Amino acid sequence: MGKTQNIYVADIGSMDLAQGKTICPYYKSSSHDFNLLCGDTFELLPQFNFKFDMIFADPPYFLSSGGISVQSGKVVCVDKGDWDKSMSPEEINEFNLKWLSLCREKLKDNGTIWISGTYHNIFSVANCLTQLGYKILNVITWAKTNPPPNISCRYFTYSTEFIIWARKKEKVAHYYNYELMKKLNDDKQMTDVWRLPAIATWEKTCGKHPTQKPLALLTRIILASTKEGEWILDPFAGSSTTGIAANLIGRRFLGIEREQQFADISVKRRKEIENLKINATYRSKIKDIGKSMVDAPTLFANEKEPYADLPF
Ligand SMILES: C[S@@+](CC[C@H](N)C(=O)[O-])C[C@H]1O[C@@H](n2cnc3c(N)ncnc32)[C@H](O)[C@@H]1O
Repeated sequence: MGKTQNIYVADIGSMDLAQGKTICPYYKSSSHDFNLLCGDTFELLPQFNFKFDMIFADPPYFLSSGGISVQSGKVVCVDKGDWDKSMSPEEINEFNLKWLSLCREKLKDNGTIWISGTYHNIFSVANCLTQLGYKILNVITWAKTNPPPNISCRYFTYSTEFIIWARKKEKVAHYYNYELMKKLNDDKQMTDVWRLPAIATWEKTCGKHPTQKPLALLTRIILASTKEGEWILDPFAGSSTTGIAANLIGRRFLGIEREQQFADISVKRRKEIENLKINATYRSKIKDIGKSMVDAPTLFANEKEPYADLPF
């Protein structure tokens, strides 16, 4: 902990590490179900061989260009940070094509990827997915039940984000937990419009990330597309909402985050849910967990088949 440079090069000749480099995790939970690398995803992804069942990515939306909004009754600047600064359409395309190509290498053939965005980046993401051979399955509209107001009063209030769900291969079937999604939707087929609230204050006890996603959103995504014990990658982890949701329902996680301050929030969040009372409280606040009656995970103690572990 506390190091800014966590990758070092060593000629170890490992079968699992591409390019002969060793990767040093920033954090690894004792049960190996929560793993975090602090560094650049473009540099780190090519450095190891491992296939994931599912990827969730919340990449930069490129919308930090000095806009304003209202939070708790105050006018605030909505710039998220240097990582989110506006870029030209060509640069955005190049960025998306590159990371989506690296992620495709890390997916199992029957694996799926989810990418969140707004109109600033989502059309580029959709084009890149198709260009790279992914098959788009759905575009989920997350309709926020409590969006911030539009203070200019000159256009409609933004209240949605989009999440594209795609599988790696046109012809290889993917996993979809149809029955569970139906059950969560009062026994009617789950549609591609999800009415869920924006982030709540109880999710921010370990520090603030400017674009932290709600646990309820990630829980639904994970329940829909993975089975217990499976491996999930988040290449732009931020405060690791993906990893916390994954661990709350018994899935394994690798996150990659460039900013140490956000990696530190991630570690705090993971340690926080080791407290069984907090863990139970969070599970009880996420409606899909209660409705699906997912038991609290047993940290894989009862697994019959040993699962593959990361090569670092
Ligand atoms: C939209 S935020 C993700 C927020 C996350 N979903 C959460 O709930 O906290 C994107 C994150 O990607 C990180 N990031 C941007 N470019 C990166 C890169 N090249 N490698 C690793 N992380 C990067 C940023 O620091 C930021 O924390």
